[in-house]
Amino acid sequence: MHPSQDKDSTGRDELVRHSAELDDVELRQYAGPWPTLGTRAERRARRHVLTWMGISIISGLALVAVYLFWPWRYVPPQQPGSALHQLYTPMLGLTSGLTVLGFTVALIVHIKRFLPHEQSVQRRHDHGGEGSTDTSRNTLVATVTDAAERSGVARRSLFRRTAGLGAAVLGAGAGVVALGGFVRDPWDSGRGEDTLWRTPWRSHNGEKVYLRAVGDDPHTIVLVRPGELEAGSMMPVVPFRESERGHPELLAEAMHRADSPAMLFRLRPDVVVERRPDRRGMNFDDYYAYSRICTHLGCPVSLFEQQIDLLLCPCHQSQFDLGKHAEPVFGPAVRALPQLPIDVDDDGYFVARGDFTAPVGPGFWELEP
Ligand code: FES
Repeated sequence: MHPSQDKDSTGRDELVRHSAELDDVELRQYAGPWPTLGTRAERRARRHVLTWMGISIISGLALVAVYLFWPWRYVPPQQPGSALHQLYTPMLGLTSGLTVLGFTVALIVHIKRFLPHEQSVQRRHDHGGEGSTDTSRNTLVATVTDAAERSGVARRSLFRRTAGLGAAVLGAGAGVVALGGFVRDPWDSGRGEDTLWRTPWRSHNGEKVYLRAVGDDPHTIVLVRPGELEAGSMMPVVPFRESERGHPELLAEAMHRADSPAMLFRLRPDVVVERRPDRRGMNFDDYYAYSRICTHLGCPVSLFEQQIDLLLCPCHQSQFDLGKHAEPVFGPAVRALPQLPIDVDDDGYFVARGDFTAPVGPGFWELEP
């Protein structure tokens, strides 16, 4: 040890003892666990800590790699790559668990094997309610520094660097979810079509998008024709493409996407719908289709008051007037339900002529197209 370090240590020892005396502490035992550094036992204990810290670092780096590069997109069972996809979540759990476990065990082992073993009796004083004096603060700093010195951390640069690296990797692992959003393109669905501005009702390759009745059996596909609805009634519908037939996962996705649900209405012949140039040609005779997602907070608008042609959202009682293209006439919603332009194809089935007239659901920055 360098003479100046020895001098520092002696001075600090005195301050530590002075600190104890000031607080009426009787130090019965205050010995560093390793009076001589570099013994076989001390090296073994150090390796123990370094091993767990290494596990934490490797696991933390693996966590970042898994999060960013593991194939996470859904692959149906029996398809190539489905096994890897199914391992995505377990791998995230395994690597994050090992990261935290390694760091925690390293910390515990370090505390047990390298911090001074102290036995003392202390009587507490509050200095008349004024808290700690400057002397108390200085002696506390000396005590903490002394503990670090005796534990060997300050003198072992490898030890210190490994602990620092472990803490950094642990922090990076914890922040990987936030960072991942900047690395992955949230607009890139692989088909380049799934954005907040587009819904599954938009055809991205010219393929017809039919109005499919929502039934109890997700595998039964029922397409809708005019004449199947009574005047003054409503039917929930979701989009369907022929290319999805026989693909349960695609059918399920079209059925369960939050922006898919729509309602097909057949208004009574006596209902007068306000004429608006921007809504010309969007209906088929008395049939109109609107998004089913409330523009207030996104509940399904499911109550149809047939006698007065109002739609009611059960969550906060917003009401939408079908005679005014589903404009809100009561309640907290301020935007109309987006309208779905519809037509009937040559085979007599309802099809969507495009996407909704506005972004679906709550607010969405109150944008209109
Ligand atoms: S979610 Fe519909 S009124 Fe609030």
